[in-house]
Order: sequence, then structure tokens, then C-alpha cells
Amino acid sequence: MTLPVAGITASADVVEGAKVYQERCVRCHALDNREKSGPTLRGVFNSPAGTVAGFEDYKGLHDADWSWDEANLHNWLANPKLFIKSKGRKKTSMRVKLKSEADRSAVISFLKTL
Ligand code: HEC
Repeated sequence: MTLPVAGITASADVVEGAKVYQERCVRCHALDNREKSGPTLRGVFNSPAGTVAGFEDYKGLHDADWSWDEANLHNWLANPKLFIKSKGRKKTSMRVKLKSEADRSAVISFLKTL
């Protein structure tokens, strides 16, 4: 696939992350700001959780009080349900788990470019 940001020399990690994104994320998280079953992830890195305007389907992230830094993203992607419980909440509608740490690192590198 072509990378969404022209003029950036993509590291191998970002290229790998784009692949993981295509395979595991894009069906719920569109890159063109259209809403699918999940919110758009443009600019999500280091942003407050649960704040994409117009995304009505937040089940676990309403009034979230954390931001998506590296550590939170790792834990969320490894196991969204466990992460949400660790935040004292009951459930989330995101079910996908990225078991491989390498995949998580790669996709986070990719998210940083969005
Ligand atoms: C089956 C659909 C689905 C897939 C596949 C999916 N997600 Fe999600 N994702 C969601 C939903 C739904 C939410 C909102 C969760 C909530 O509010 O409980 C979400 C929320 C998120 C958020 C928080 C967004 C915000 O605005 O705070 C991030 C980050 C995220 N997903 C990353 C990913 C990544 C990276 C992948 C691929 C590895 C992925 N998701 C795959 C459905 C999905």
C-alpha cells in the first residue's frame, strides 16, 4: 500500500505497521475520517481517549481520563478488555487483540504518522 503521508521517509517499522493496520484495523478504523464501527484513528497518538467528534458508539471510552501514549496503546492493543478493566470500567466494544509485541510496536509507529 502507499503510505498516507507523502514526504516522510518511512522506517521499516512504519511500513510493517501499515501492513498490520491494513490487515487488522482498517475494517473498523477508516483512514479517511469516515466513521466505521470504530472511530477514525487520525491523530490518535498522544490524544485524549474517547474524543473523536461525532463517534457515537463509544462504550468504554466515554469521559476517559487518559491519553493514548505509548504504554497505554500497548496495553490497550494487547487486550482492550483487560485494559478497560484496569481503568475501572466495565466494557469496551473493541475486541481485537494484537498478541504479538512486534505487531503492536509496528502499528503504534504507524499511528504516530497519521
Ligand atoms: C471489530 C472492529 C475493530 C477492529 C478490527 C479494531 N478496532 Fe479499535 N476500536 C473499535 C471500537 C468499536 C472502538 C471504540 C471502543 C469503545 O469506545 O469502547 C475502538 C477504539 C480504538 C482506539 C481508541 C480511539 C479513541 O478515539 O480513543 C484505538 C487507539 C484503537 N481502537 C486502535 C485499534 C488498532 C490499532 C486496531 C488494529 C490492530 C484496531 N483498533 C482494531 C473497533 C475495532
